[in-house]
Amino acid sequence: MLPVDPTNKLSFNRRIMEGDLVVVYERYDSMKPVKVTENGVLQNRFGVFKHSDWIGKAFGSKVFSNKGGFVYLLAPTPELWTLVLSHRTQILYIADISFVVMYLEIVPGCVVLESGTGSGSLTTSLARAVAPNGHVFTFDFHEQRAASAREDFERTGLSSLVTVGVRDIQGEGFPDEFLGQADSVFLDLPQPWLAIPSASKVLQQDGVLCSFSPCIEQVQRSCETLKSHFTDIRTFEVLLHAYEVREGNLESWQDSDGGLHKSNKKRQRSGNGLESSKPKTIMARRNGETRGHTGYLTFARLKCTM
Ligand SMILES: C[S@@+](CC[C@H](N)C(=O)[O-])C[C@H]1O[C@@H](n2cnc3c(N)ncnc32)[C@H](O)[C@@H]1O
Repeated sequence: MLPVDPTNKLSFNRRIMEGDLVVVYERYDSMKPVKVTENGVLQNRFGVFKHSDWIGKAFGSKVFSNKGGFVYLLAPTPELWTLVLSHRTQILYIADISFVVMYLEIVPGCVVLESGTGSGSLTTSLARAVAPNGHVFTFDFHEQRAASAREDFERTGLSSLVTVGVRDIQGEGFPDEFLGQADSVFLDLPQPWLAIPSASKVLQQDGVLCSFSPCIEQVQRSCETLKSHFTDIRTFEVLLHAYEVREGNLESWQDSDGGLHKSNKKRQRSGNGLESSKPKTIMARRNGETRGHTGYLTFARLKCTM
């Protein structure tokens, strides 16, 4: 996922090799992760694809089946991985993830502590943000989940950037070895207020914490606890609306949520040198699959004691 060359530079120009994980893309809502093996085959409704045909091709290539069907072979970026990973828990999605990475001020070289690891959806993006020389230490008290996450980080090439620990963070807090070491801390726990005192100890001066909670009652309790050691406490709910924009006529689109917008822009076709007399209408509407409430993100900065 994040090939790092010997000089610690990230390289995105690699070609597909045996053993690589690729995201086989049929369309935006139909993708799956596949490990490339010399004798492997992928069979789907488009036919049979031989892995051996994929080796040596650039990520992003279009490849063909025995029947002339095609798929694209994409690199398993954190954005795509979040969409194809196996859900062992509830996960964070792209809108929340982007907001978290930005507001936690995560840049290459940062040390980030996280709990719980869950399915590792957020962790993959944290790892890319701290690469090539930062590190994410993520903890989950569920041994099997931690082991599966470790395997996933191996598969996606992130294991040098992430360490998964098994620990009850609400009961024991983060390990003492991290005291004053973390640039940021992320909590996705059922009772985050229990882990906040420990988070305040592992953060460096000026470090930022984020806690994700699905319920506002959890947020209220966390904010109450945050007040003793943190400042600039703010809670957000990130709502994402996808839009579909296409040419057509009004009748062809039944609008269910009143979100249809019509543009009068006339477009001209010049294919045979003649202009089409029929004006084309560009329409846009909210995609019905828009994801609603996922949770609340509470951010807070450690109070400066110096
Ligand atoms: C909702 S999942 C986290 C999902 C993750 N943010 C993602 O994007 O994939 C919450 C995780 O917290 C873990 N957990 C719950 N209580 C915990 C505790 N006291 N200490 C450590 N992990 C805990 C659970 O085992 C679960 O895997």
